[in-house]
Amino acid sequence: MLKKKEFDTYKIASDYIKTKIGGDVDIGIILGTGLGKLLDDMKEKIEIPYEDIPGFLLTTNKSHPGKFIYGRIADKHVLCMAGRFHYYEGYDHDELAMPVYVMKLLGVKTLILTNAAGAINWNIEPGDIVVITDHINFAGLSPTRGNNLEEFGQRFFPLDNLYDKKLRDLAKASAIEEGFSLKEGVYFYAVGPFFETPAEIRAMRSLGADMVGMSTISESITAGHCGIKVLCLSLATNYSTDRAKNMDGSEVEDVANKSSHRFRKLILNILRKLD
Ligand code: HPA
Repeated sequence: MLKKKEFDTYKIASDYIKTKIGGDVDIGIILGTGLGKLLDDMKEKIEIPYEDIPGFLLTTNKSHPGKFIYGRIADKHVLCMAGRFHYYEGYDHDELAMPVYVMKLLGVKTLILTNAAGAINWNIEPGDIVVITDHINFAGLSPTRGNNLEEFGQRFFPLDNLYDKKLRDLAKASAIEEGFSLKEGVYFYAVGPFFETPAEIRAMRSLGADMVGMSTISESITAGHCGIKVLCLSLATNYSTDRAKNMDGSEVEDVANKSSHRFRKLILNILRKLD
């Protein structure tokens, strides 16, 4: 039996969130590991635990809190996801589309995705922030697989301008104003939860990848389906596994925590500049 996606599932979840926030949302942000410092800049916060939202997904990762946080940052109405969902947790492809479709129904027009990722490119160092220009999805993760919901978008849709050029330029300009520069790169999606083999990393590098991570593309592809503009910022938390040995994930959180202040300043400045 084919499992069917129902528009109402998303509508019921977004209606519930609307009753809690009682206002519009301009910008959605999905916070990656250790990047929650941004929430310190938020005013008039309203927290909505995922477990209270009808039909919503639940985080299984202890280091990721599971809630939406709504409020004002730089005078924009922002809905942050503190805690995201990954394929490696056991969710099906189509389930991973849910948070972004719900954001779409709440009025989100721009989505800022952040993540922690491994640096494949020799010129990217742990601590660098990288604007993602494109991705490689050879694991075949497909959040829009299954029946197409016309309310959100077309069955077949392009991904060639998924990571919006104007937003990327705006991010680079915002970083310069804050006194540092961003790198640019292609994100390679790896299913995880294990880190890659050195041979896989060498293959990814030869295919044109600069960063590797286990999240994000279900969100960016879904946003592409339903017409939300995407900016993706990756924090390089470690060298890829051909250079870093025996990783267990603790290095990811350490670097993310150390860089979170710079990340926060960057996103704050980006939010100031967004229309
Ligand atoms: N590989 C995959 N995912 C990651 C990494 C990595 O090296 N670092 C942070 N997330």
